[in-house]
Amino acid sequence: MGASSAFQSQVTFLFLKEKKRNALDASHRNSLEARPVSEPTARVLSSSLPAFDRADHREITEASADPGLPLRSAPRDRSLSERDPFFALSARSPLWAAAGPWSSGEQSADALSTAGAVVAKTVTAEPRAGNPPPVLHKYAGGSGGYLNRIGLRNVGAAEFARARLPIVRACNAPTIQSFTAQTEAEVEAILQVFTPEAIVGYELNASCPNAPSGQLDDAVLRAVLRCARRLSPRPIWVKLAYAPAELLRSRARICADEGADGITAINTLPALAVTLPSIDSAQRKPDDPFLFRGGVSGPTLTPLAQWAVDFLVREQPLPVIACGGVGSLHEVLAFAALGASAVQVGSALLDDATVLRRLQRELAHAAQRAQITSWNELVEVLCPHKRS
Ligand SMILES: Cc1cc2nc3c(=O)[nH]c(=O)nc-3n(C[C@H](O)[C@H](O)[C@H](O)COP(=O)(O)O)c2cc1C
Repeated sequence: MGASSAFQSQVTFLFLKEKKRNALDASHRNSLEARPVSEPTARVLSSSLPAFDRADHREITEASADPGLPLRSAPRDRSLSERDPFFALSARSPLWAAAGPWSSGEQSADALSTAGAVVAKTVTAEPRAGNPPPVLHKYAGGSGGYLNRIGLRNVGAAEFARARLPIVRACNAPTIQSFTAQTEAEVEAILQVFTPEAIVGYELNASCPNAPSGQLDDAVLRAVLRCARRLSPRPIWVKLAYAPAELLRSRARICADEGADGITAINTLPALAVTLPSIDSAQRKPDDPFLFRGGVSGPTLTPLAQWAVDFLVREQPLPVIACGGVGSLHEVLAFAALGASAVQVGSALLDDATVLRRLQRELAHAAQRAQITSWNELVEVLCPHKRS
């Protein structure tokens, strides 16, 4: 191709991209074009990913036969799709169910059947009782949301794999198992109970704010991730909490050094909700003021999650799964605009079990209007530093 026709096709390409961007619903534009980026960074999302089991890939793409799913894309490059867990999962849907709120094995299968993946609740090697009730508090202050102090209550990995995981898997969505551990022995005990047929990968929860040892320090994170990486060829995502820039950067560096496949950002953050006492002594209750300490989630978390996702996408090489305060298409598109590889939905499922289906429909319609056929294309259109 001559220089001038190469230039012309580049101009045509950019023009088409611009057209697609303009076609996106005007009501979402403000948040999509939110921020200029100082230094566009080239990222090769798939080049450092380990092998992704061919059988998994087949299972995932076959499971995506539901015509209601948005943004499915036929693999253009089979070798890439076989190497890249994100490609296979986001080919099904970029919207995943986050660990916890709706994934402990009690949910109705129908609610999550269209999810790109379901992250099953965090398990530990041994059962944990967690904190005494109440463990969940609906928070009406700020932008609203929840505080929870479940404290990693779980039946233990082996019992979860035996009795609960089949219920999660009945959703017919690929299952990612969340776990946390303090020692290599615990990692081994956990990983050995999950068969390759049962799960497509792991999410290492390094950031639970409301359980003793729920937040892994750097040394433990490194050791636990290294051990998990050695024991499993499956994709491993690491779930981090919001943290100031330098801390987040160093945590992300550990994840990359130890072979994680991606980072999920963010988990809940320690918070306190105060239910005010009545000033009138006749109406005051014995437990006034009611104080609830727990990890905050939902809309109050959204700006922090957006900051962390943007930072991680720009500052480190691993793909980022966005999580925090997603309840409408607005937040899904905002995370696309920040370059997220997929988006998890947590607390919104507590308010509306069908929210994932609704978001998927809305995303599909918005994408169709803009003639966008895949999540990757959407990200490329919306995210300045992912544009080629
Ligand atoms: C009731 C509840 C239970 C949760 N349990 C877990 C869990 O087991 N493991 C985990 O990594 N995160 C857990 N989370 C955190 C969510 O996965 C998610 O990171 C957080 O709620 C932010 O997303 P959201 O605003 O969409 O809820 C839980 C959150 C809630 C509200």
